[in-house]
Amino acid sequence: MFRLSKADFLHAQKAFRDLDPIVVLDALPKKLYANLKQEALSSLHEGWLCCHDGSGTPPAQRCKRGELKKFAREWSASSGLCEQLKKITGCWAKVSWDASCYTAYLDVGHYLSPHRDRSESCAMTLLIYFSSADDTKDPGTSLDCWPLTTDQKLSIPSMENTLVLLAGDRVLHGRQKLQSSQKIYLLSLCFSLSRNKNDTH
Ligand SMILES: [Fe+2]
Repeated sequence: MFRLSKADFLHAQKAFRDLDPIVVLDALPKKLYANLKQEALSSLHEGWLCCHDGSGTPPAQRCKRGELKKFAREWSASSGLCEQLKKITGCWAKVSWDASCYTAYLDVGHYLSPHRDRSESCAMTLLIYFSSADDTKDPGTSLDCWPLTTDQKLSIPSMENTLVLLAGDRVLHGRQKLQSSQKIYLLSLCFSLSRNKNDTH
């Protein structure tokens, strides 16, 4: 579960309905956050460079990826998180293992081109950042989103223990090329959504 007050829940429900990103600061309890962060760093250390030019199914990108391990798998499939996501979206959420991973943008030029995720596996995207990018002059340190309610791009800074929830299949999102030596680590989870519990459990 992540921290969200009753008032925040109401705000999050409206935001998800309106296809606005939901940003939760200081989202995870200390112990869980520490476990996930350690797992992220170790998984990404033995991970792989992910390069696509955009000509196939995955969006154009250059970044490092690592597979989910014990803590991420347990948390993303937990009933507590499932209940929270149900309250926000009105739907039952099921993690899509094939589309979820640890991700890192580590070198100058690492990026993720603007895209929408596949609705069958990623109707909801959940991100948790493990590093803070404090160089605000580098546009590559933020997640760019284009909510439908406004014509303007929204840039969400990558800040430690910040959680971002997004209707990933409907809201265009991406990251510009990193221009500085900032390093960004995150957990990237994709969920399918269904109104019928039997479709997801
Ligand atoms: Fe995405």
